[in-house]
Amino acid sequence: MKGDHFGGRNEAGTSEEAEEAEGDGAIKKMCGIVGYLGSGSAVPVLVSELRSLEYRGYDSAGLAVIEQGNLRILKAAGKLANLETILKEKSPIAQVGIGHTRWATHGEPNDTNAHPHTDESKVVAVVHNGIIENYRELKNELLDKGINFSSDTDTEVVAHLVSYYYGQTKDMLKAVRKAVTRLKGIYALAILSPEYPDRIFAVNHHYSLTVGLGENESFLASDGLAVRPYTNQLLRLEQSEIVELTSSGYKLYSFDGEEVKRAPITSEGNLYVIDKGGYKHFLLKEINEQPTVLRQTLAKYLPDVQKPVNLKKERTDLVNSLHTAGITLTKEQIKNIDRIQIVACGTAFYSGMVGKYILESLAQIPTDIEIASEIRGRKLLSNERTLTIAVSQSGETADTLAAIKEAKENGSHTLGITNRADSHLAHITTDLITTECGIEVSVAATKTYIAQLASFYLLGIYLAEEKGLLPPEKAAQLKHELYLIPTWQEKILATSEDIRQAALKYCSAKDVVFMGRGFNYPTALEGALKLKELSYIHASGYAAGELKHGPIAVLDENVPVVTILVPGVVYDKSLSNALEAKARQAKMIAVAVEDDDKVNGIFETVMRIPVVDEFLSPLLTVLPLQLFAYYAAEALGKDVDQPRNLAKSVTVE
Ligand code: M6R
Repeated sequence: MKGDHFGGRNEAGTSEEAEEAEGDGAIKKMCGIVGYLGSGSAVPVLVSELRSLEYRGYDSAGLAVIEQGNLRILKAAGKLANLETILKEKSPIAQVGIGHTRWATHGEPNDTNAHPHTDESKVVAVVHNGIIENYRELKNELLDKGINFSSDTDTEVVAHLVSYYYGQTKDMLKAVRKAVTRLKGIYALAILSPEYPDRIFAVNHHYSLTVGLGENESFLASDGLAVRPYTNQLLRLEQSEIVELTSSGYKLYSFDGEEVKRAPITSEGNLYVIDKGGYKHFLLKEINEQPTVLRQTLAKYLPDVQKPVNLKKERTDLVNSLHTAGITLTKEQIKNIDRIQIVACGTAFYSGMVGKYILESLAQIPTDIEIASEIRGRKLLSNERTLTIAVSQSGETADTLAAIKEAKENGSHTLGITNRADSHLAHITTDLITTECGIEVSVAATKTYIAQLASFYLLGIYLAEEKGLLPPEKAAQLKHELYLIPTWQEKILATSEDIRQAALKYCSAKDVVFMGRGFNYPTALEGALKLKELSYIHASGYAAGELKHGPIAVLDENVPVVTILVPGVVYDKSLSNALEAKARQAKMIAVAVEDDDKVNGIFETVMRIPVVDEFLSPLLTVLPLQLFAYYAAEALGKDVDQPRNLAKSVTVE
């Protein structure tokens, strides 16, 4: 049910940070905040919380603790392991501390710029997620007061500002409040002070912070999953709130100083265990989890389909289960929808492209798909007759959130498809489909893509049924076929060794072209994205019919071309496009169904999938491409789970 944000398989709290400083030496980063205070030893808890968030930011990590009344700060550029090495040598004894893991795209991700940051007299230590838009102005003001800065970050402004106001008020809560009224932007902060050795002050302003309450100990994290191993009593901070946290509880305030009374929520969800489960990488584990993910998503929304005896009942089951799970659209509202608009970024955008084909084909509603960042700077045209769907595994992507907010303001009916029932996206959309993936740790999206596709199939069937466009027998058949897909995916996964061999053969290429038509044009785009982001090999995806309109110029005997060929109306044309590539001596690779003999003699490598119709084929065709990208990256010695320059959720614009 929508609103039950702590109850599903997804855990409380959200995501990481984005910080953007303008101009020269600009820094953008997406990071994680943690905190602990209680009777236990703070450092191991902080490190374990940071470990849960490290997959979201891995350029540097740091801690601030209070040891024997003094502030101690330890930080290290690089992965958390570097900080842990330092801690092995000199681990502080402390019962209170805050920590941070950082991700930077510009500027040196060095020790100096790592969080926490302090003021000159070390009255406060600050870790920060978000954007202080007016940091230059504030920095100049503080410099004029004779205050010296030691890093390039905007975070340091916060430390000096809080310290300055503390000097005036001698009251940390007041100082924090005064400081936040000066800050522009969106941010989350955790503040530690040796003057208040028994508490942590934390601020959330349009970001994410979750407090966890245990027995005589309290926790803090920018993503609830870091806190959840310790307690199921969770309090998510709302948009502009300050929390004063002690080991025995908390006080919550609005920015204007009013105390806010809000009780924690008991998280009923399962605990996420973040481990590789015997796989070499999270990515390989997540690719292999896709049949399970699909089964779980289908089991949630189509509980009875494995025994399709009563067609009428099945129809009711999907309608009911989607309604129970978060769809409020009534039959009347569906009739009134004259346009669907999908907004998303990256891999979620490609799932939305498949979604467009599915919705137009099943529900017969014209559907547009927009890259969310392309909506910036222009007006999003939508109205109360539009269904706007935002797709985002994290539910925290800044551009996607901005687009869906604009759609909402325009009066659109909004629907979120996300893997995080506790995300911003889930909070702001009227309707919600939560995908059943568990946490996706690897930065590259794989299983969430499959689950997003499944959501579009279910949504398409649902809308078509409600509009009376899908005869019960056809609907039942479709649902039944969906249930066959996980087994077929398992068959593809069983050919991993063949795909690994193919990846080894082509991984020295400098450029790889992927092409497909119709339902598999987005698959080509996703295949290219996976290869690029994992192996750093340049790759492009094309609508196969577009090849001759330009991209064919890049083809020669050094360029592998991957064609997706699935039985259906575009098969012959796709094969013709492949032959155009062959005529340019390209290295020919196909993703094709098992009984396709036409490919023999044309392609030097064929990655086989079970026989499937083009309509459901995107649920299969992407798997060989994911594995191909994984094995190519692995062969090239790349960091497949944490590729360079990427972050798991992109909270900058
Ligand atoms: O969290 P979101 O689904 O909104 O993220 C969108 C993109 O940032 C994401 O899909 C990105 O392209 C991944 N690196 C793809 O593997």
